[in-house]
Amino acid sequence: MTTRLVHTRDELRGAMANRSGEVGVVMTMGALHDGHRELIKVARRRCDVIVVTVFLNPLQFAPNEDLSRYPKTLDADVALSAEEDVDLVFAPSVEEVYPAGEPQVRVHAGPLGDVLEGASRPGHFDGVLTVVAKLLHLTSPDVAYFGQKDAQQLLLISRMADDLNFPVEVVSVPTVRDADGLALSSRNGYLTEADHVVALTLSRALRAGAERAADGADAVRRAARAVLDAEPGVGLDYLALVETSGLTEVPDGTTGPALLAVAARVGTTRLIDNATVDLGGR
Ligand code: PAF
Repeated sequence: MTTRLVHTRDELRGAMANRSGEVGVVMTMGALHDGHRELIKVARRRCDVIVVTVFLNPLQFAPNEDLSRYPKTLDADVALSAEEDVDLVFAPSVEEVYPAGEPQVRVHAGPLGDVLEGASRPGHFDGVLTVVAKLLHLTSPDVAYFGQKDAQQLLLISRMADDLNFPVEVVSVPTVRDADGLALSSRNGYLTEADHVVALTLSRALRAGAERAADGADAVRRAARAVLDAEPGVGLDYLALVETSGLTEVPDGTTGPALLAVAARVGTTRLIDNATVDLGGR
């Protein structure tokens, strides 16, 4: 099967017109890696038609962020998509997605968009949800696949689909890690070899926290924090242990699942990672 690359909404509409069966979408900002490959593979197991979107969405970047240096590798992205039998790659220009310039009406993420990533990146999730809403309208999928690595994004997209009645099932796919445990991200390409070693502290901290889950929330926080504090190369933004649907800090003594989330700067790169821990509250 050949993978077709389309750039415009009209081409997309034309290419989708003759397709039948269940449609799955994997949305990306390009620079595809094995984490994206896994999203596609999971989609492929269920869906008849797979659409990958490649769009570097300016709306979700603040002026001081890495929009201009974000890797652009469309040829390689199409090649990876072809290896995974993707039907269609939709790679629109900014003008194609935002023909009237910056949209005046946007999806507002609400309070869940103000914490964790949203506290450090104000407006980020409004930008994400606005483009995801547009891409859902344009691709009309039955199922949309997102990675657990961006846990807050995944939660907000699921809430948007539920709260605003988008006719799509949002499916979460587990984080893919490299052999050392580093969560795969298009931004890992910014890391020097030395940064890479320091970056492993994040997943190590999550593992150390998870190992203390039976001892309760405070023990988890302390164990994860000790690992992060021991590495001077980590510029910690936040370490949070939050309830999985409301994202509020869990008090000690809480039992059940909680999200241990971390964000930190390593060299010039901001990284995030998370793990779900099952608190015993002992
Ligand atoms: O996770 C991403 O790559 C982006 O935030 C997304 C969902 C493609 C929206 O631009």
